[in-house]
Amino acid sequence: MDDTTALTRAMARVPGPVTVVTTIDGTGRRWGFTATSFSSLSLDPPLVLVCLNQSASTHRAFTTAGHFMVNLLAHGQDQVARRFARSGVDRFADGDMEPCELGLPGSPHACARVACALHSVEDGGDHSILVGRVLTTHVDDDRTPLVYYDRTFTHPASALDVPEPLMTLHLADW
Ligand SMILES: Cc1cc2nc3c(=O)[nH]c(=O)nc-3n(C[C@H](O)[C@H](O)[C@H](O)COP(=O)(O)O)c2cc1C
Repeated sequence: MDDTTALTRAMARVPGPVTVVTTIDGTGRRWGFTATSFSSLSLDPPLVLVCLNQSASTHRAFTTAGHFMVNLLAHGQDQVARRFARSGVDRFADGDMEPCELGLPGSPHACARVACALHSVEDGGDHSILVGRVLTTHVDDDRTPLVYYDRTFTHPASALDVPEPLMTLHLADW
């Protein structure tokens, strides 16, 4: 197995958040892509990051944008994630993105939305690291996040997923 395959296999074992990152360019055109590479970076100042492939059709729009929005998708939004990863289609055609915080395209059904000013663009090998300064956030506590794990869309395991007898056994152990 070559090094790239080994790294890809290892990284597939890392559960990641599923986000759709959006922006609007100077002409009013909307752009978006699906990303699992979203992470918090700093609390003071409040910074987050997402990595974007330099060869992506969205790269120029995001690296020159003033602002971007990270939509943390919810369990059940697999189709949105797939559509925003598809090449050569209008990813906004389904009309499920609405103007949200800062007027940026957002999903009303997302678990959370994080609206940012573009703070810096860092070198990340074949990716660019978009660092965003968080301006405003929206959280919906009632939704469960979508998770990408082993190249599959899933959701976090919770007590609800554990059969009752196992729960009892587990609690008794403590
Ligand atoms: C689950 C999932 C996660 C992805 N995460 C990233 C990511 O973090 N960064 C990235 O640049 N592309 C990521 N992609 C790929 C992009 O969504 C998109 O397919 C790619 O940028 C090619 O788009 P293009 O047709 O605009 O060039 C991901 C795709 C999927 C399905």
